[in-house]
Amino acid sequence: MSELEICNITKDYGPSRALHPVSIAVERGEFVTILGPSGCGKSTLLRILTGITQPSGGEIHLGGKRIDQAPPEARDVAMVFQSYALFPHMSVAGNLAFGLKMKKVRKDERARRMAHALEICNLAGLVDRMPRQLSGGQQQRVALARAIVMQPSLLLFDEPLSNLDAKLRDTLRHELTELHRRIGATSLYVTHDQAEAMAMSDRIVVMNEGRVVETGTPLELYRAPKHVFTATFLGQTNLLPVVARGAEAQLPWGQSVALDAPATGDIQVSVRPENIDICADEAGSGTVCAVSFMGANALYTVEIGGRRIRVSQSGVEHLIETGRRVTLQFPGPVHRLNGTTAQEAA
Ligand SMILES: Nc1ncnc2c1ncn2[C@@H]1O[C@H](COP(=O)(O)OP(=O)(O)OP(=O)(O)O)[C@@H](O)[C@H]1O
Ligand SMILES: [Mg+2]
Repeated sequence: MSELEICNITKDYGPSRALHPVSIAVERGEFVTILGPSGCGKSTLLRILTGITQPSGGEIHLGGKRIDQAPPEARDVAMVFQSYALFPHMSVAGNLAFGLKMKKVRKDERARRMAHALEICNLAGLVDRMPRQLSGGQQQRVALARAIVMQPSLLLFDEPLSNLDAKLRDTLRHELTELHRRIGATSLYVTHDQAEAMAMSDRIVVMNEGRVVETGTPLELYRAPKHVFTATFLGQTNLLPVVARGAEAQLPWGQSVALDAPATGDIQVSVRPENIDICADEAGSGTVCAVSFMGANALYTVEIGGRRIRVSQSGVEHLIETGRRVTLQFPGPVHRLNGTTAQEAA
């Protein structure tokens, strides 16, 4: 049995269903991210795990014990919120001590745990500050320390970095990953930021419209997504209808490509922009209609066969100008997709 087992959890708000039966298993010490667009049910699922919200159906098991009927304080689960949710009238020390006092942890043990949490969250020197005297990044570190100090079996994060500016988000993202490596707590992290999910996770659970679309490591989901939703939500891609004949397929403009899995008939493929080569060629059948130089790479939009294809070229020495004719080449096999919607995946 996995450390955390979410089994067929559903949630109805009146006539509308926020969660269709959702099942997710998380191994002990694993860092799993739930990735999905706004409104897909991520926070609802986390609130159900903490016990703030009651599920309409299903079961949750943590460490082999069923917890979905247990009150929040008996669950051994701690959550870090997007809004930090610190107690404004308490100092950093007071915020950290609160939950430990509620759990009647002895004073010497409390001091030991607090010192450890302050140290690993880089908060030494700030213990006597009030939340209003801290920056956003510091407040989020306090929220994190307040969760860690409880030594929960399960750590939940609900978009904890989304209120921070891009640079701080990046710094804290690295700190969180390092922290997880050190404390090894079983963690479920919610975000709608695909870059964050890919950078931090052991595994990603992709959700859409209250359902799990698919689950895998960041590499698996990026390289070989089964579903269109995953292919488009995780990074950029070109979706193309093709006619498959075994190991080969014909693109809409007649060019032949290799498939990564054999198929027959009308199917859809996903081709990442970086898996297409572009070459200036006056006899080519594509035309560059936009180019953006990004530093590490150049992003081209190429019109070919009445479609717009995105191409990323790295190590650029010369840009191909807008209006120039080009040929596109597909050096590796293109990826065949299965389902088309989250509903099909469920
Ligand atoms: N208390 C409530 N009453 C009625 N509907 C609700 C309630 N809470 C959430 N919902 C609905 O449930 C769905 C899922 O909401 P949820 O907050 O879980 O989404 P989310 O994935 O966390 O989105 P975001 O990324 O914007 O935070 C939404 O359609 C929302 O409107
Ligand atoms: Mg939310």
